[in-house]
Amino acid sequence: MRISKRLKTIADLIEEPTLVDVGCDHALLDIYCVKEKHLTCIASDCNRNACKIACSNIQKYGLENEIQVYQTDGTKNIPMTEDSTLVISGMGTSTILHILKESKILPNQIILQSNNHLEELRRYLVQIGYYMEKEEIVKEKNIFNIILSCKKGIVSYDKLDYEIGPMIRKKRLEEKKDYLLFLIQNEKKILDSLKENQKDYSIHKQKLEQYKNELT
Ligand SMILES: C[S@@+](CC[C@H](N)C(=O)[O-])C[C@H]1O[C@@H](n2cnc3c(N)ncnc32)[C@H](O)[C@@H]1O
Repeated sequence: MRISKRLKTIADLIEEPTLVDVGCDHALLDIYCVKEKHLTCIASDCNRNACKIACSNIQKYGLENEIQVYQTDGTKNIPMTEDSTLVISGMGTSTILHILKESKILPNQIILQSNNHLEELRRYLVQIGYYMEKEEIVKEKNIFNIILSCKKGIVSYDKLDYEIGPMIRKKRLEEKKDYLLFLIQNEKKILDSLKENQKDYSIHKQKLEQYKNELT
């Protein structure tokens, strides 16, 4: 079965036998994980239409016994145990934070792919006792998707780790170069839109220099 490179990368990171996929939409990740990784899945979405499409896709593959579908907000009423992998992908950080904050329990492995504010997401994860075990960069349709695989544990990070990603920083230059160039480009755009005497100017100037240093 073919799925996008982004979803395949997420699937490859899953370590536990049960996947809880919050915001499953089409449930393609779940179908792939049952077929290719022999996992059992809980697929949930708050949107009624998304759940209908998920159910119809699951039926098409005859996987009704392997994938349970819940229409709910986040993990509310979902029987998630510590030995599940929780995946929340394709959303913004504020929605991901809402889902994490409202969850009664969180499992040992959480895989997140946010479309924005990664620094804020990493800081929250560390605050609740997780560390970034792996970070993957997937470029699709000219968009960089950063996928965080997090585990329970305490690791201390510096400011640049939160901004760029501790495990991205550890990658070989060939693997992270394009992403760093993208971050540098972003900082240049922000600086172009600011005046030199504006208070954020020096912050972004410093970020630009630090990101450039990461290229060496
Ligand atoms: C862009 S889709 C991403 C689908 C899939 N996870 C992926 O990565 O391709 C986002 C999905 O998250 C769902 N969603 C948004 N907020 C949610 C919440 N609080 N609880 C459950 N699902 C949510 C939306 O209804 C939508 O189907």
